[in-house]
Amino acid sequence: MAESQNMQGIAIVGCGIVGSSVAKILSRDHSMLQARVTTSFSLVKIVDINFDRAKSLGLDETLFEKNLESVLKNPSIHCVVELVGGTTFAKEVIERSLNAGKHVVTANKALLAHHGNELLALARKNNVVLAFEASCAGGIPVIRALYDGLLANRIDALFGIVNGTCNYILTQMTLHGKTYETALSEAQKKGFAEADPTLDVSGGDSAHKLAILAALAFGQKINLDAVDVTGIDQLELCDVMYGMDLGYVMKLLAISIRQDGGITLAVKPSFISREHPLAWVSGPFNAVSIYGHATGHTMYYGRGAGGDPTASAVISDILSVVNGSARASFFGCTIWPDIADASRAMPVSEPVSRFYIRVMASDEPGVLAGIASILAKYGISISSVLQKEKDPDADMPEAVPVLITTYPARQNSVLEAIREVDELAVVQSKSVCINIIDEHPEWKHHKTQS
Ligand code: HSE
Repeated sequence: MAESQNMQGIAIVGCGIVGSSVAKILSRDHSMLQARVTTSFSLVKIVDINFDRAKSLGLDETLFEKNLESVLKNPSIHCVVELVGGTTFAKEVIERSLNAGKHVVTANKALLAHHGNELLALARKNNVVLAFEASCAGGIPVIRALYDGLLANRIDALFGIVNGTCNYILTQMTLHGKTYETALSEAQKKGFAEADPTLDVSGGDSAHKLAILAALAFGQKINLDAVDVTGIDQLELCDVMYGMDLGYVMKLLAISIRQDGGITLAVKPSFISREHPLAWVSGPFNAVSIYGHATGHTMYYGRGAGGDPTASAVISDILSVVNGSARASFFGCTIWPDIADASRAMPVSEPVSRFYIRVMASDEPGVLAGIASILAKYGISISSVLQKEKDPDADMPEAVPVLITTYPARQNSVLEAIREVDELAVVQSKSVCINIIDEHPEWKHHKTQS
């Protein structure tokens, strides 16, 4: 009797790819998981309107429940696991659960990026926790790293490959010569992509994750609109290949760097050196590099998408709710964005980096001089120039690609210079500009600041 009173009941809402994996692991591995925490817990309900996937996994049908209200009213359920996805019904599920005094675990990055502050505040008001390890980088415990393992640090920079679908597509294109469409369709079949894969390839999903990670890393409220987002959907394979010739690997990076008293916030296809630790992160794997003022460079690597890896993060949150450590962190730390200062370290509008520029120009004397003089006018220093030969099989056989890499320059200056370059009579199409991310220096700022 005493045991059933202390039993922590868990309900999963949403039995899709991640929800069914969570239910499967909680059921199949219950005795192993139970042995790791001192409080008893049990999966009590799985809420959905369609149980085909759950049935195909052989889950206990007595757990199936179509009525959310009955779960919210059930006093034996202490924790609701929201795995519906999206920002409408999922928000309602979370709000109603928190208001019913239930702890909530979620993997919903889109919802947190848009409404995280208000949902965290609602949890705090109801004296329960909202845990979201699975929202960023799938099975990698990077949220925990930020609020726990790295708490001694002022974070100076964060670079992430946080979308498994995009990393899978880029890897298949660059290493295996597959087309963008084939690679995307494979990523969908493997369960990495969002229901609407536009969110993946447009960079939106990475922006959601960056907003969540940067809020914790820099201890401030992040406005999603402040993230400068470019996806991989406009990327041309020739640039991926030219970059490889120059020693670079193309990755979709989520970037946030402490700079000029603020932080930069960007998601962009970026070139990184073949030697960069993020360069060998391939397929659906994710990695997040974080630079702390005391620890220097740390990197977190693992599977960023898919049912079981994401379930690993969800279940670690469930166990933290069950053993009380989630409560201790949520109420004992001050870095959560609902209670963070909105005005500290605002995003900066002019990030600085090196750039790769491809200009498609007529093959005639003076072209390079014309481009170089415009770059010089904007104070942009050229690091290297490579003019390729005409390619009779290319879309523009009469134009030659002029590949330029720059030394660090302000992004706005580079974009303005390129606009001017594109007005030259010899330039035959819009130029391409991709930032180059060098390895971030460790211990860049020695002074401690908040
Ligand atoms: N669609 C996401 C990805 C799933 O590809 O990374 C994990 O958030």
